[in-house]
Amino acid sequence: MRELSGKVALVTGAGSGIGRAIALALARQGSQLILCDINAEALEPVRREIDGLSRCIMTEHADVASIDAMRAFADKVHAAVPAVDILVNNAGVGLMGTILSTRYEDWQWILGINLWGVIHGCHVFVPKMAERGTGGHVVNVSSMLGYMPSPDVAGYSTAKFGVFGLSMCMRSELCDHKIGVSAICPGVINTNITRNARIRGHENVDETRDKVVSFYGRRNFGPERVARAVVKAIKRNKAIVPVSPEAWFGYWFNRAWPAGNRAFWRWTTKTIQK
Ligand SMILES: NC(=O)c1ccc[n+]([C@@H]2O[C@H](COP(=O)([O-])OP(=O)(O)OC[C@H]3O[C@@H](n4cnc5c(N)ncnc54)[C@H](O)[C@@H]3O)[C@@H](O)[C@H]2O)c1
Repeated sequence: MRELSGKVALVTGAGSGIGRAIALALARQGSQLILCDINAEALEPVRREIDGLSRCIMTEHADVASIDAMRAFADKVHAAVPAVDILVNNAGVGLMGTILSTRYEDWQWILGINLWGVIHGCHVFVPKMAERGTGGHVVNVSSMLGYMPSPDVAGYSTAKFGVFGLSMCMRSELCDHKIGVSAICPGVINTNITRNARIRGHENVDETRDKVVSFYGRRNFGPERVARAVVKAIKRNKAIVPVSPEAWFGYWFNRAWPAGNRAFWRWTTKTIQK
């Protein structure tokens, strides 16, 4: 999809961070936006910014983890447009915890939003895209933790590996419908994700959060750089899109020497949390 002007793009989790940046980048390309977030209030300023650049068709409160909410949202969308051209499954949350410290309800929470949320988005929007027959593009936001293992993120990484695998399966099937699929795999991006993440297995949760927030701040890699990579991925129909030097490093290191890569990230994680 070389030309994004006039296309209808739907972004989940558009109220903050990467989702907001993607929505604005697509608006700058001339796309018309449909936005959703569990925090509906956060969408209002984004809507105003988009209206200065292009057109915001709709903002909606929706919890991606709920199939009922996503079906209701899809009904509203398909009453307004026959199908979306670009679907960006971005909404997500953070969870720090090992396989031993992650509680059962944390597994349900993280997989519900970060994996089922993407499945729900695909389930309710992709069939209309295929049925219409004019093609389109699906962007699923995975992570560098969706292709390489790292300690203390068992639930988060499991969900992101799922999103990565789902995206590759979809890509090999949906090309018959002229629908491209990209798995976006950012590294450490400075957004609100660390402020709102659940943290398990750490004695002093506030202290751990401060260290992680401060590390993300010092890294200072902004979400607009992810958004630029997303626009490029849609235009060039890229399959796997690591974003940031650490995401590229992990991608190649893990392929070349998986054991060395695991040892390196164990050491890095411990150093960040010290
Ligand atoms: N920040 C990073 O370092 C990083 C790295 C790799 C991948 N990611 C992924 O990028 C995506 C966006 O994260 P971000 O960093 O911009 O975080 P963020 O917290 O800034 O934004 C996430 C947005 O998703 C929304 N959201 C959360 N749960 C939702 C739900 N159930 N239904 C609908 N909306 C919901 C939030 O309200 C928020 O507006 C996530 O999938 C995240 O896992 C982030």
